[in-house]
Amino acid sequence: MPKAKIAGIGFYVPEKEVKNADLSQYMETSDEWIKERTGIEARRFAVKHKETTSTMGAKAAEIAIQRAGINKEDVDFIIFATLSPDYYFPGCGVLLQRELGITKTEIGALDIRNQCTGFVYGLSIADQFIKSGMYKNILLVGAEMHSMGLDFSTTGRNVTVIFGDGAGAVVIQPSEDESGILTTKLHSDGSYAEKLSFMSPGSHGGYHSEHLEEKVDYGWPDKDQPAEIFVTEKMMKDGHFYPYMEGPFVFKLAVQKFPQVIKEALDEVNMQASDINLLVPHQANLRISQFVQKRLGLSDDQVVNNIQKYGNTTAASIPIALCEAWENGRVKKGDLVCLAAFGSGFTWGSALIKW
Ligand code: UT7
Repeated sequence: MPKAKIAGIGFYVPEKEVKNADLSQYMETSDEWIKERTGIEARRFAVKHKETTSTMGAKAAEIAIQRAGINKEDVDFIIFATLSPDYYFPGCGVLLQRELGITKTEIGALDIRNQCTGFVYGLSIADQFIKSGMYKNILLVGAEMHSMGLDFSTTGRNVTVIFGDGAGAVVIQPSEDESGILTTKLHSDGSYAEKLSFMSPGSHGGYHSEHLEEKVDYGWPDKDQPAEIFVTEKMMKDGHFYPYMEGPFVFKLAVQKFPQVIKEALDEVNMQASDINLLVPHQANLRISQFVQKRLGLSDDQVVNNIQKYGNTTAASIPIALCEAWENGRVKKGDLVCLAAFGSGFTWGSALIKW
């Protein structure tokens, strides 16, 4: 059974840089607070009404395809991970196919919604398809356009200051040698689904209310009325269309789960943390990455951090960080690269790759 390897990698971030101080125009926040609590100094925002999650994904994909030495028409499966899709449906996979100009229809396009762990989940899916022999050139994209869906008032500041836009992509192929994905580990725990969530519009109709910290009045109509199922006027008026996060709760679990899931992957292949040449953690918070680094006893040059420049780009954060590290010569043939993520769901996961 061949291993699956990353044959090409690319990333795209929009040109417009938004510094912490720029956000103070909209909300009560400060450069000091954001830097101290998150490590973030700036993030990129896409050009609204011109760029979208799938167009950014396509830009990253073109670079990955070119670096893999294949043509667009060679791609036989697309996996698109995002929490900020262009449309409620259809998903970004088919929009990416159209944007890339891939006209052949002997191709599958899968959309996955695993938020911060989307890329690791996608990599694991691609790994299985390559190992089974079903596909030969899988395009995996993680992309987000958060800037279209954030609350820029002071109410939303704990979430809004963290997120940025961008995209990363890889082409996954069967490996001809010992290089490739050694293992992937995936986890989930639905008990805390609402702790980091974007609940409306959706079909819940208030059903999960018992899991909310505070009762929310969405203004649902009488249950027998057919209209207004997803969107109510009250929802619009009260601004329920934004992400919600209990930051300290998420933080506490993240610092436990990152080291655990990395260790789990290492144990499976009989390796130690000291064998890792490069750890690419999901860029959630610099303090989380520093904590994980310390727990694993890694040095600064063994861990990739670029949240300072791009903020948290959710499904795009790992491929952007991995690609930037690769472009800077930090990933060499034979290196052991570890990817790890934790986020909404909660879901978490890791991957070990022999480069
Ligand atoms: O990527 C998916 C996974 N996500 C994560 O892993 C995120 C995990 N959580 C975090 O990174 C952190 O919890 C945050 C960065 C979100 C928040 O940092 P924190 O140190 O946990 O702050 P906090 O939420 O406990 O808030 C502390 C104070 C509060 O004020 P009071 O109640 O102490 O007066 C907040 O209202 O900071 C206030 N605050 C802000 N002040 C200025 C919250 N956001 C801001 C802000 N600017 N942007």
